[in-house]
Amino acid sequence: MPQFITTKHGERIGAERLKTGDGPALQAFNASLSDDVRARFLPHAYDDETVARMIARAEADDDRAYVLRVNDAIVGYFFLWNFMQPVPLLGIGLADEFQGKSLGPQMMKVLIDDAKDAGRDGIELTTVPENEAAFKLYRIMGFEHLGEVENIAGDGRKVIERLMFLPLKPGAEPSGHSPKPPE
Ligand SMILES: CC(C)(COP(=O)(O)OP(=O)(O)OC[C@H]1O[C@@H](n2cnc3c(N)ncnc32)[C@H](O)[C@@H]1OP(=O)(O)O)[C@@H](O)C(=O)NCCC(=O)NCCS
Repeated sequence: MPQFITTKHGERIGAERLKTGDGPALQAFNASLSDDVRARFLPHAYDDETVARMIARAEADDDRAYVLRVNDAIVGYFFLWNFMQPVPLLGIGLADEFQGKSLGPQMMKVLIDDAKDAGRDGIELTTVPENEAAFKLYRIMGFEHLGEVENIAGDGRKVIERLMFLPLKPGAEPSGHSPKPPE
């Protein structure tokens, strides 16, 4: 059953778990992004094999992954990788024309509620230093900026990103692992 989130203009959009059959729409979502947005949100490669692996991980709940769907198109993709670990890794991205409509905070809330309900210790994320819109959103949602880390982008590039952490339990600590796409 989809959960619904609402744009600031009142449009209701269904958030559904990523599942078998979503591969072509997920690839089309990535292909639709402007180069600027893809430079900020390329969590993994989008070849058939990688996409099939991400869907299998989502169906096994190794990752808690959602898509936002409008008609048959995916317009948002958001997830907690390594959902079974004490500190999952969050990612979130919207198609260009769906940004700036207040969907991001609601997508974050879905993921934070899932992590809390599952008893996780906290949530980590990384973001490129020039992504001020995302950095602002994450701070509003309660994430602390811990410093800079080396990360592996979806195209294999090494990038320096800001590491952020949201504790969900008193005294919770970041994972201490290098952030990278699940294998
Ligand atoms: C970052 C993101 C998740 C925020 O979600 P959102 O629904 O757009 O956020 P909001 O509508 O609540 O807007 C939050 C702020 O970001 C600004 N913003 C949103 N999209 C923007 C854009 N494309 N360019 C510049 N600013 C933008 C808004 O103006 C707002 O600023 P304000 O509070 O000063 O008015 C979303 O814009 C997105 O997916 N961006 C591209 C991919 C990305 O950067 N993902 C995060 C990778 S770490």
